[in-house]
Amino acid sequence: MPSALPDGEPAPADGTLPAAALEGFGERPFGIYVHVPYCSVRCGYCDFNTYTARELGPGAGGSDTYAATAAAELDLAAGVLPAARPVDTVFFGGGTPTLLPATDLVGLLTGIRDRFGLAVDAEVTTEANPDSITPAYLEALAEGGVTRVSIGMQSAVPHVLRTLDRTHDPAGVAVAVAAATAAGLQVSVDLIYGTPGESLADWRRSLDAAVALAPDHVSAYALVVEDGTRLAARAGGGAADR
Ligand SMILES: C[S@@+](CC[C@H](N)C(=O)[O-])C[C@H]1O[C@@H](n2cnc3c(N)ncnc32)[C@H](O)[C@@H]1O
Ligand code: SF4
Repeated sequence: MPSALPDGEPAPADGTLPAAALEGFGERPFGIYVHVPYCSVRCGYCDFNTYTARELGPGAGGSDTYAATAAAELDLAAGVLPAARPVDTVFFGGGTPTLLPATDLVGLLTGIRDRFGLAVDAEVTTEANPDSITPAYLEALAEGGVTRVSIGMQSAVPHVLRTLDRTHDPAGVAVAVAAATAAGLQVSVDLIYGTPGESLADWRRSLDAAVALAPDHVSAYALVVEDGTRLAARAGGGAADR
């Protein structure tokens, strides 16, 4: 099924926000989320707004033009937000933001700093798949002002990773975490529990492996079987939209 906009009034072309959205602006923490909607492969459980090159097809606006498009969105936001306070947190989420060149993420961060200002102790995070980052890439992010990376580990058990359609090897997570730490970045890892076929012993193995990496943070998500995904089709016999 093609994606569709939700019911409601169309978004104003100039980015105008309703008064309620601006209430208290300047008194509350100010965070900017930059969504990067690209993945090399779509995992069968995932219904996030993300596209593979195959899904986009030739000629579609893709990751090569994304930074310029996102910078235009920053201009819209700068035009409608009162210049009240610098940004406290920036989060590059996806999709897989680390499919973009490091210069694109750093350029967008610079664009945020130039337009809004960035708090001196701002937390700047990017999500990353373990097999989408290299030591040089992480160093470039850290030099450009990124402070934290959130790595999609999901499991330490090969058959669980296979069921989740993950492209990375379990050993690659430790390599990615070590490289991020060496680059001076804070590290968080994501885990998923409740995958079909995962035993309690499997889950314990993943937890033990995550703790052994000594990350600064662990997020553990219960697997949600989202309607329209390949996982839902496999679990219930229905057709998958994506
Ligand atoms: C949108 S992903 C982005 C991170 C990166 N693309 C990756 O997968 O490694 C953020 C996290 O959401 C979680 N997630 C995505 N779909 C989920 C689902 N259906 N149930 C539970 N967790 C999910 C995964 O743990 C994933 O690491
Ligand atoms: S879980 Fe991450 S890598 Fe997998 S499709 Fe979703 S956003 Fe992409």
